[in-house]
Amino acid sequence: MRADTWRALEELYKEGVCRAIGVSNFMVHHLEQLKEDCSEVPHVNQVEYHPYQQTNRVKEYCREEGIVFEGYSPLAKGQVFSDPTVLQIAEKYRRTPAQICVRWSIQNGVVTIPKSTKKERIQENCQVFDFQLEEGDLAALGGLHDGRHVSWNPTNIEGHQASVSKILNPTVCTRGFA
Ligand SMILES: NC(=O)c1ccc[n+]([C@@H]2O[C@H](COP(=O)([O-])OP(=O)(O)OC[C@H]3O[C@@H](n4cnc5c(N)ncnc54)[C@H](OP(=O)(O)O)[C@@H]3O)[C@@H](O)[C@H]2O)c1
Repeated sequence: MRADTWRALEELYKEGVCRAIGVSNFMVHHLEQLKEDCSEVPHVNQVEYHPYQQTNRVKEYCREEGIVFEGYSPLAKGQVFSDPTVLQIAEKYRRTPAQICVRWSIQNGVVTIPKSTKKERIQENCQVFDFQLEEGDLAALGGLHDGRHVSWNPTNIEGHQASVSKILNPTVCTRGFA
């Protein structure tokens, strides 16, 4: 099912209907399986990524394979806002906790997609290109990993549930093919 869905996306890509095609929640073994079954490597893989959930093995694999690693839930759905380490670093840089976490993802080479329903917060989350976290602070945030998922854990999904996404123009459209 997963390989069949991906082959359908490959066709759309070859026909020029999609500029790029990608997947979501694929761990290394899912990507390896796809490589065996299909011809086109995904252009992007969207995976949970925040200080508590650093999917670094997948990130590294994606880098080696030329797959853009996109991190979702970068604010851990708000859980980072009460974290003492995040708050301390935010105070040091005179930035908000959200900006610190978005910046941390970016400095780790991750395409990050914070979400807010509020215009001012969307703007705030974008204002992260005029400062840089020092190595020690990157490491302190990196040390917060505890393996928790704020979304779901796709590691043991072997069947048809992992979703395949397609990217149209510059917009990411995530479509589940469950
Ligand atoms: N592929 C997948 O399986 C998958 C799974 C989960 C999520 N995602 C995607 O990932 C993206 C974001 O993830 P997410 O929504 O799960 O979590 P998130 O971006 O980590 O957190 C969103 C929460 O943080 C709040 N927030 C955002 N900016 C803020 C700020 N500057 N100050 C204070 N609060 C702020 C939002 O509330 P307000 O809206 O009230 O500002 C919302 O409650 C979404 O586009 C989502 O579709 C993908």
